[in-house]
Amino acid sequence: MAQTIIYDCDPGRDDAIALMLAVGDPRLDLAAVTTVGGNLPLAGATANALDLLAALGAGDIPVYAGAGKPLVADLVTAPAVHGCGGLDGVDHNSALAPCPGHAAAVIARRIMESDPGTITLVATGPLTNLALAVELEPAIAHRVNNVVIMGGGYHTGNCTPVAEFNIHTDPEAAAMVFRADWPVVMLGLDVTHQATVDDRTQAMLTAAGTSAAVCAGKIMSAYRTAYRGQSAMPHPPIHDLCAVAYAADPTLFDSVHAPVAVELTGSLTRAMTVVDFRPTAPVNHRHTVVTGVDNSRLFATLREALGRLP
Ligand code: BDR
Ligand code: CA
Repeated sequence: MAQTIIYDCDPGRDDAIALMLAVGDPRLDLAAVTTVGGNLPLAGATANALDLLAALGAGDIPVYAGAGKPLVADLVTAPAVHGCGGLDGVDHNSALAPCPGHAAAVIARRIMESDPGTITLVATGPLTNLALAVELEPAIAHRVNNVVIMGGGYHTGNCTPVAEFNIHTDPEAAAMVFRADWPVVMLGLDVTHQATVDDRTQAMLTAAGTSAAVCAGKIMSAYRTAYRGQSAMPHPPIHDLCAVAYAADPTLFDSVHAPVAVELTGSLTRAMTVVDFRPTAPVNHRHTVVTGVDNSRLFATLREALGRLP
């Protein structure tokens, strides 16, 4: 049976590729998309989600807009990596609009109304909506199947030497999400930096031949150019794809159980995800830290999904 997911995101180029997998992989049942201000302001992220779903023939999947700003900090978007507006290769004239209701309230309600253990939350933006949802309805912590996030890391950051963008954008929300009494799987930069797409892989993906595959190729090309300008990486990591792929098939990944906490006060280390790998660390089976990915199986999975989409 397919795993039902609610996908919280800030599309964003890599979020867009991840959304293609969420729609195209038959092991996933995408119940709703919720959006958060992050890579783009909330309105832009929401419009991108709606337009992409329309392009994928999935305009019936409901989209709910959520938090436009982090709990405490000001929102700092990432136009250098994700552009200032529409996704490359996507028609931005869809007439779709978000459904009424705040994303956090919808997440809480959908989990409370569903059978326990049936919904997985996947989040690939700042964790503001998830933090608000569990604050609004703490009982969701014991009803959710899993919370799978792209964010953080244990050996490097990308906003600071130790802080990753999604956690850095809203560290207070991230701290709440890791403190809540629910299972959290962290796919941080340690693993997503292994999920790079080189020219050969991109050609293999676009060879799926569908409009979605062509669109994915355009998004990846723009992402590669932007990423080369921003980092020393020759090929862009498709960070967010990893989180959705984990929900579909955790066997693509290696992981360990280790407690994670978010640094909120350090003058050099604010927003760092501190992972305790010591053998003496308190046993915490709520937190799973993903350490490795089978890159070729990951992109083969994406190709299959792209081939199924229009
Ligand atoms: C994360 O930050 C965003 O720019 C990407 O969409 C991804 O979710 C990587 O640090
Ligand atoms: Ca993202």
